[in-house]
Amino acid sequence: MRRMFIFILPILIIVATGFTIFGIVQVRAEEEKLMDELKRKAKAVAESMELSVQSVLTTQNKRNADYLVERFQTRDRLQGCAIYDAEGEIVAITARFSDWESKDKPYLADVIKNKVPRSGMEQFKDYTVYSYVLPVLKEDGTALGSVEIIYDTSYVLSRLTEIWKSISVTLIALFFFIVLSSVIIFRQMFLLPVLRLTDWFKGFLKGEGDHRHPLRDEDELGKLANEVEQVALSLRVARRSIVQDAQKQLNIEDVWTEDKLRSYVQAKLGVRTMLVVSNREPYMHMADAVTGKERCIRPASGVVTAIGPLLHALGGTWIAHGAGDADRKFVNSKDKIGVPPEDNRYILRRVWLTKEEEEEYYYGFSNEGLWPLCHITHTRPIFNEKDWDTYQKVNQKFADAVIQELPSGPAFVFIQDYHFTLLPAMIKAKRPDVVVALFWHIPWPNPEVFSVCPYQKQILNGMLACDLIGFHVQYHCNNFLDTANRLLECRVNTEKFSIVRGKQETLVRAFPISIALPSAEETVSEEVLVKVREEYKLEGKIVAVGVDRVDYTKGIGERILAIDRFLEKHPDYKKKFVFVQIGAPSRTHIKRYHDLGGEIDELVEKVNWKHSDGDYKPIIYIKRHLATEEIAPFYALADMCIVSSLHDGMNLVAKEYVAAKQDGKGVLLLSCFTGAIREFTDAIAINPYATEEFADAIYTAVVMPDEEKRHRMAAMRKIVQENNVYRWAGSIVTELSGLGKHNHEKPSA
Ligand code: G6P
Repeated sequence: MRRMFIFILPILIIVATGFTIFGIVQVRAEEEKLMDELKRKAKAVAESMELSVQSVLTTQNKRNADYLVERFQTRDRLQGCAIYDAEGEIVAITARFSDWESKDKPYLADVIKNKVPRSGMEQFKDYTVYSYVLPVLKEDGTALGSVEIIYDTSYVLSRLTEIWKSISVTLIALFFFIVLSSVIIFRQMFLLPVLRLTDWFKGFLKGEGDHRHPLRDEDELGKLANEVEQVALSLRVARRSIVQDAQKQLNIEDVWTEDKLRSYVQAKLGVRTMLVVSNREPYMHMADAVTGKERCIRPASGVVTAIGPLLHALGGTWIAHGAGDADRKFVNSKDKIGVPPEDNRYILRRVWLTKEEEEEYYYGFSNEGLWPLCHITHTRPIFNEKDWDTYQKVNQKFADAVIQELPSGPAFVFIQDYHFTLLPAMIKAKRPDVVVALFWHIPWPNPEVFSVCPYQKQILNGMLACDLIGFHVQYHCNNFLDTANRLLECRVNTEKFSIVRGKQETLVRAFPISIALPSAEETVSEEVLVKVREEYKLEGKIVAVGVDRVDYTKGIGERILAIDRFLEKHPDYKKKFVFVQIGAPSRTHIKRYHDLGGEIDELVEKVNWKHSDGDYKPIIYIKRHLATEEIAPFYALADMCIVSSLHDGMNLVAKEYVAAKQDGKGVLLLSCFTGAIREFTDAIAINPYATEEFADAIYTAVVMPDEEKRHRMAAMRKIVQENNVYRWAGSIVTELSGLGKHNHEKPSA
């Protein structure tokens, strides 16, 4: 109310002042006009009487003189006329002005003497009157007397009062109109939007409502709402963390948990902001192709599996490509959304790419160039200038987003993978004070292999702006140090395991990535297991499972050939052995992946046909993206899990399977070309290229005594429990915290 008063008062003052000035000007003009009229009239009347007065004064005819002045008696308005002789004595006067006679009239002598007319305002009783005196002369020019016309001026005043009255009425009406319209405008344009925004803000903090504020305008209020929206999101995320903080376990356990990591990070890093950057986003909104209904999925990705729990524990902002076809619908005005959707723990900032950018940076340079280059699985890397140009541009786009999100104070930027080799240098160019780390989730090849990349120097230069680069295994670290040493001018410090170039030192470390163990609530119920067994006819069968993105590095074809060979060698397992392959379609836009899809379909078809018996088929191929909770029953049911990657940085499916086998009744067949094999020495190691051995390994798993299975599985479970993703993050934080101190001593040049 006070605000409205403050808003309206100046308008009213301006309008009132305007009207007063206008009124004064108008009244003055009217007054001048009326007085002019009156003067002209008095003069004309006096002049029209001049001859008659001359005659009555010459003839001294009193009757005629009385007749002349009495004509004024009949007029409506108060008017009169007096005729004087040369001495100024009254000859005749209109009756209603008889008292005028006694009035002192010094001006009469001047009129006679100077023989010029005179006019002026005079007071008569309660009236102010106008008097005009005209000298009456003889033919020879001597004065005979004078004639005076007297007009009452009070009607001028009444007229002016009327004008003031009408101005005041208009002003009051205008005041009323201004107040009314201001109240309506104020309510519509300010009050209602603010109330709507307040309601949205309250609801959003409580976890209700969607992520977008209700004001769609681009004006100042819209801009304010955009800012409010960001604050709301940060508050919502921060609130959850604070609640979690209150519940944190202060006792230090051996097993790393989300709470322990949180306490550890707080102790080591204090209030530093954490920004994560990856190409793949942790939550993707997709519209169903048939129903159009939108749903949120967690993409099948090692990065998502590992980094998700980290941000869930620590909060912060994750910047990633918004690749879901319905992604734009769920972000706020700054392209942000609180995730997980049902329990906002951190902020996801989506970066939009054009089709062309996605084609050239993601499909092209990253996945047709760097991916095969680093995996060395006999798929030729393709490098071309256009893809490289776009790769640089997209790295810059992400760098801009990072710079935008960085606070002015200390921060860590944690970059993921081969999509962003140039990003570290771009960030450091603008913010040398922030600590930048990069984790490389795929293998790093030896220098000979890497040197086929035409952009090797730019890539290494970009990466070496990092303070820390992490790989899954020491072998990849060694390859990277060799590569830098061979292809760049730099000093490799083999004691510290770092690369030094000028003032910049980059630590290179192995951090074997891991997963978060499933919680008790995630244990698959017996009811679900029964349903899955029934649906896929798994009852009484030996079940093997494979879970992968459909990628040529995963050795899915080699796996099927090994199963074929196993059934050839041990036909008595037909109808007893079933292999379930869950394959999430991936990068299908790339020809090699598209072809691979066809090759696997064909192979499954061929092997199924070969070993089919009645309605028995040895391979069940589930060719779609499954959510974590949909995969869980297969892990639980499977007697063995086959991971046969031709080359893999780590492979988290192996760890997921081990984590899921609470009863210990399962065998892991693991490719010797995965990072995971270095930790899982109790898995059955396989060479996916050696079909015969691979088939024998399947047989070994099938006939392995339960006791041995349990023994091996227990050893592997211990490793996953101890070296879970929280410990992985903890080790990175330990390195980063040292760097943070070191970095802040650096001149920011
Ligand atoms: C590998 C890469 C990740 C990537 C994932 C899924 O694990 O290291 O960076 O997210 O594959 O691949 P996509 O291309 O679908 O993101």
